[in-house]
Amino acid sequence: MAMLEIEELNAWYGASHVLHGLSLAVEPGEIVALVGRNGAGKTTTIRSVMGLMPKATGSVRFAGTELLTLPAHARFRLGLAYVPEERRIVPGLSVRENLQLGLLAAGGRIDERAAIDEIARTFPRLKERLDQQGVTLSGGEQQMLAIARAMIAGPRMILLDEPSEGIMPVLVEEMGALFRRLRDEGVTLLLVEQNVEWALRLADRAVIIDQGEIVHSSSAAALLADKAIQERYCAV
Ligand SMILES: Nc1ncnc2c1ncn2[C@@H]1O[C@H](COP(=O)(O)OP(=O)(O)OP(=O)(O)O)[C@@H](O)[C@H]1O
Ligand SMILES: [Mg+2]
Repeated sequence: MAMLEIEELNAWYGASHVLHGLSLAVEPGEIVALVGRNGAGKTTTIRSVMGLMPKATGSVRFAGTELLTLPAHARFRLGLAYVPEERRIVPGLSVRENLQLGLLAAGGRIDERAAIDEIARTFPRLKERLDQQGVTLSGGEQQMLAIARAMIAGPRMILLDEPSEGIMPVLVEEMGALFRRLRDEGVTLLLVEQNVEWALRLADRAVIIDQGEIVHSSSAAALLADKAIQERYCAV
């Protein structure tokens, strides 16, 4: 069974019809890169899966459970996690408290101290700053915090919206190593990226979205080698 199976997804912002019968499957333990131009519908696809669109129809199943009829908070509890494009570090909360929100969102059954210790081992820069206000972190550190908050409850799948944006190259490579480690531990990843080369080197499979529809699906290696398709659909 696919970990995530999207079938005939349509989504709207008010009267604006943005996704047009989009279908896409992500198998357990794979990294799928979702790429495409600005405005193609990448963020809208992720928001539809997470229950954050005002209107979405079709079918989105996560490990066999239909999501579209569930409220957003119930989707987090099934083991789905989300790193939004705009990071959403909560003002007025410390790094530690932002991490605690990740545990709360997942249903709060996890030993908090052990979970924060584990995150501190993975992200030494966050460990030194657990009591600092989250919004005073640098941009790169805030992105690490958003990823750590998504990971902390041990999700089965993480949807990431442009995690490399605005991050220096050395940290982007570290992030890639982290995503590979998560994949090797059995976590499924859907990775939306503008940094197409990096995403394709990391991913197992690749799909291209254009004007709210999937127009290409292949191994990541095949798309990496196909400059013509990349230029047609991914040139910014
Ligand atoms: N809140 C909104 N209200 C109305 N239209 C929106 C809203 N958010 C996005 N759209 C429109 O929906 C379409 C898809 O947007 P989406 O954010 O999914 O694109 P994207 O592929 O994530 O682009 P980018 O690479 O720039 O992040 C665009 O035409 C956009 O203008
Ligand atoms: Mg987007």
